Order: sequence, then C-alpha cells, then structure tokens
Amino acid sequence: MKKEMQFNQIKVIVCDTYDELSAEAAEIVAAEMKKKPDFVLGLATGSSPVGLYTKLAEKNRAGEIDFANVRTFNLDEYYPIDPTNDQSYRYFMNKNLFNKTNIKLENTRVPDGTAADTDKFCQSYEDDIKAAGGVDLQVLGIGNNGHIGFNEPCDKFYNITHVVELTENTIEANSRFFESADLVPKKAITMGVGTIMNAKKIVLVANGKNKAQALYEALCCDVTPNNQCSVLQYHKDVTMILDKDAASLLK
Ligand code: F6R
Repeated sequence: MKKEMQFNQIKVIVCDTYDELSAEAAEIVAAEMKKKPDFVLGLATGSSPVGLYTKLAEKNRAGEIDFANVRTFNLDEYYPIDPTNDQSYRYFMNKNLFNKTNIKLENTRVPDGTAADTDKFCQSYEDDIKAAGGVDLQVLGIGNNGHIGFNEPCDKFYNITHVVELTENTIEANSRFFESADLVPKKAITMGVGTIMNAKKIVLVANGKNKAQALYEALCCDVTPNNQCSVLQYHKDVTMILDKDAASLLK
C-alpha cells in the first residue's frame, strides 16, 4: 500500500517495498515518455534506480513505451575512467538499461571519463543538453550524505557540469562495487545543481535506512549546500518515491 505526503512543493510517495517503489517510478517515467517521442531523459546510476530501469525495459519489450527516438543524458561519470571499465557508469547504463531497450546508443550520453580537456568537455555537455531542448525528466538517487549527482556537501551549489573531488564518505560508500577503496577513482564529472534544477520534471528514488537522515534534512530542514538535495525544495515539479525505511524519519 502506498502513502502520499507533501513537503511544500515536493510530492513524496512512500511504498512498502523496493519492487513497488520501482514500479511506481516506472509508471511515472513511462507516462511522461508517452507524451513526447523524442523525450529527453536524464539518468542516474547506482543501486537505487536498477529496479526502475528493469521495469522500463519490460515496458519497452511489451510495446508500452518506445525508446527509438529518446535521447538520454547521465548525471555523472567517474574521472578518469575508460567506458569499457565494468565500474564505469557508461558500462552500468549499457548493462542495466540501454542494451535491454530499443534505444540508439548514439542518442545516449554519459560524461566522458576519458576527456583530455575537462573544462571544454563540461561546457560541451551543457551545450548538448540545451541543444536537445533541455531534460524533460531527470531521474535522481540521493547519497547518504545528501549528494545528488556527485554534488557533494560543501559551502556552495555548483551551477553547471564540472569536475569534482569525491569525498571520503562517497569513496567509502562506492567501494562496495570495487575490489578495494583504493581503486575507486578520486574524481568525477557531474552535472551541476543548476543543470539538474533546469530539468522540467524530477523523479528521485531512494530505499533503505541509510538514506533516511539525508532525506529528512533535504525535505524538513532549511536549504543548504551541506545537503545538496535540499535545493530541490526550490523546484516546482519533484516527486520522490521512497520505501518505508528511507521515509522513516519523515513526518
Ligand atoms: C549516480 C548518482 C549518485 C547516486 C547516489 C545514490 O549517478 O548520481 O548521486 O544516485 O550516490 O547511490 P545508490 O543508489 O547506489 O545508493
């Protein structure tokens, strides 16, 4: 059974299980995709959206949604990293979504973990998003420190796509995917908070107790760059889809 809550402009849907959360998110994303064949979809990696991507691929196979003209932009990528590395976000996206749908790979963009000139690359990523008409719907997860994309807690909000040094907390959290924490790249390229806020619609998915405090701070406390997700309070079309554990501190 799902429950709906409202935190100022932000709608929160609390589901009993991860499977229900993923199905709910897939319904919302699919409904938006049906409105526009050349939909521009912003994507996240990590464990949170895996169920959503599985369900979107199922809907595609069932003929309910079509990816043929969909264009995608991913939030972030480690830097440096080769796209063939099985820990790269490009590899993750191919495996968990792109290779399971009829999307054209040339219409999918993930920040280039091999870019020699990162400033030039970051500007071109912004230009390409604009040229595509902007992101129609951005999928987000949230870090247990409140990060969105790789916008880590700090004393400001970064506007556009940029290179970021990962915090110890994030390196530690992401080391579960690597053989050891030493192998986690120390930097990433990420959309800025401004890039994310420009998306017309935002759907954030989160599950597990380790997200509860960050979500409480993002929704129930003041907007602060110490919890980058809190900036979503200023966006007019955000839906967060959470499981009970992630929502456990929300009242
Ligand atoms: C990944 C990303 C990150 C993750 C966050 C949560 O593209 O942007 O902000 O969404 O670190 O990761 P998981 O879902 O693995 O807990």
